[in-house]
Amino acid sequence: MLEAKEHSRSAEDREHDQMFDEESLEIELPGIEDMGEVRKDIEFLEKELMKTVGIDQNLYLEYDVKRGLRDSAGKGVLTGLTEISDVVAFDLQNGYKIPADGSLYYQGVNVKDIVKGMEGRKFGFEETSYLLMFGHLPSEKDMKHYLKVADELQELSNRFIRDVVMKASNGNIMNALQRCVLTLYTYDVAPDDITPANVLRQSLELINKLPLIAVYAYNSYCHFRRNETLMIRNPEPGRSMAENILYMLRPDGHFTELEARVLDIALILHAEHGGGNNSTFTTHVVTSSGTDTYSSIAASIGSLKGPRHGGANIKVQNMFKDIKEHVKDWNDKDALSSYLSDILDKKTFDRAGLIYGMGHAVYSLSDPREVILKEYARSLAEEKGMTDEFALYENVEAIAGEMIMERRRLNKNVCPNVDFYSGFVYSMLDIPEELFTPIFAIARMPGWCAHRLEELMNTSKIIRPAYKYVGHHIDYIPVDKR
Ligand SMILES: CC(C)(COP(=O)(O)OP(=O)(O)OC[C@H]1O[C@@H](n2cnc3c(N)ncnc32)[C@H](O)[C@@H]1OP(=O)(O)O)[C@@H](O)C(=O)NCCC(=O)NCCS
Repeated sequence: MLEAKEHSRSAEDREHDQMFDEESLEIELPGIEDMGEVRKDIEFLEKELMKTVGIDQNLYLEYDVKRGLRDSAGKGVLTGLTEISDVVAFDLQNGYKIPADGSLYYQGVNVKDIVKGMEGRKFGFEETSYLLMFGHLPSEKDMKHYLKVADELQELSNRFIRDVVMKASNGNIMNALQRCVLTLYTYDVAPDDITPANVLRQSLELINKLPLIAVYAYNSYCHFRRNETLMIRNPEPGRSMAENILYMLRPDGHFTELEARVLDIALILHAEHGGGNNSTFTTHVVTSSGTDTYSSIAASIGSLKGPRHGGANIKVQNMFKDIKEHVKDWNDKDALSSYLSDILDKKTFDRAGLIYGMGHAVYSLSDPREVILKEYARSLAEEKGMTDEFALYENVEAIAGEMIMERRRLNKNVCPNVDFYSGFVYSMLDIPEELFTPIFAIARMPGWCAHRLEELMNTSKIIRPAYKYVGHHIDYIPVDKR
């Protein structure tokens, strides 16, 4: 039986921490201005780099390059087949594609029905993980096996926590996830065995260990970088993944049924999204080279970290903080419109011209995950007395889509995506911002693992698209003549 450990801080502990602190605060890779003598040489090289002209943008059109692996209408190039999930954004009527409300199917089952089927029950994320990897909804007996394995694998050795998770702590927990996942390779008895049985074992380990790594890495960061009390609480067998995340994270370990349910639903909704999304495509690309599970999953985590992908949930949160600071009356639609217009004109916020949480590469009229999450955000806002804030989100949602379409002259509808409400939901669950994207990674792990297994079991070709060379061949110049 695992026991909760809350460290009381002895002198020895403090000395140990100080050692960690000194180690982690020492900057190994300084910025150019602090590089001393070599600074001038680096600046010289920087100028040389800036002299390179770059590729003539017209050539992309001339050679019909599918930038971002998309055609001119923004549709993804077909690069694979999958049975794991289906992202549907259009209806077919008389051979024509008509924009429709989006739907998402996991192994053929509508996610809306999966969420509905979880009413009054827990372990929704666990059932979803089972469905994604094994291809069918689990029976009670199936779940007994799965949950027994989950309880057993939701554990990290003290050695791994101390020597890997707690080392080199920093505020970017996605970076910690990548580092820790890669290091698990060293702790695995058969890291390079890519037979389906072994990859399944590794997948189950990763699905169940990632929440612990994320929470402990965050707690280490708070301790070593913010001087807060260190808490490493073990998960409890019998609890769902959602319950254990809240239990490990909260100082008092308490949470309400609704809080655990909402997190469970958020994990279900983020678990999978087809083979073409950036991080899952990364899983396919890296897996196709025949490399090990840890290398492949670490690469996918790196992809998810980007603000155009999983990192968007933090951008949405920061954008709303900015809106709250600048618009006094959250129900004043004119003031909100004017501020959103400034965001689109790159006059304010991060000056990128994007209203985060809006738009999707595939969905047209609506993103089904957003539709579901919004209702849970509403319930949670009522429980937490945050209905004013919820109303602000709704007001922005009502204005932003049409405004983006109009300003960017888009024919395609711009709907809110899953990230529109996810950060708000996480903040109502007292989940710190540093863990927003890691929660997405925890949720997406079964999706990545299912795709890795599908790639290994169905395809034996390395993914290798083409790049056309548009430079010029030139003669080699002897060194004394350059
Ligand atoms: C998600 C996203 C990358 C999908 O984009 P896409 O379908 O591939 O479309 P593009 O990025 O090519 O955008 C087409 C045009 O619409 C604009 N656009 C799309 N979403 C926009 C948004 N949220 N705010 C402002 N402009 C937007 C783009 O700037 C682009 O304009 P341009 O042609 O004048 O350059 C895009 O909508 C976006 O950046 N959204 C904000 C970030 C976000 O919420 N990401 C989470 C995704 S789940």
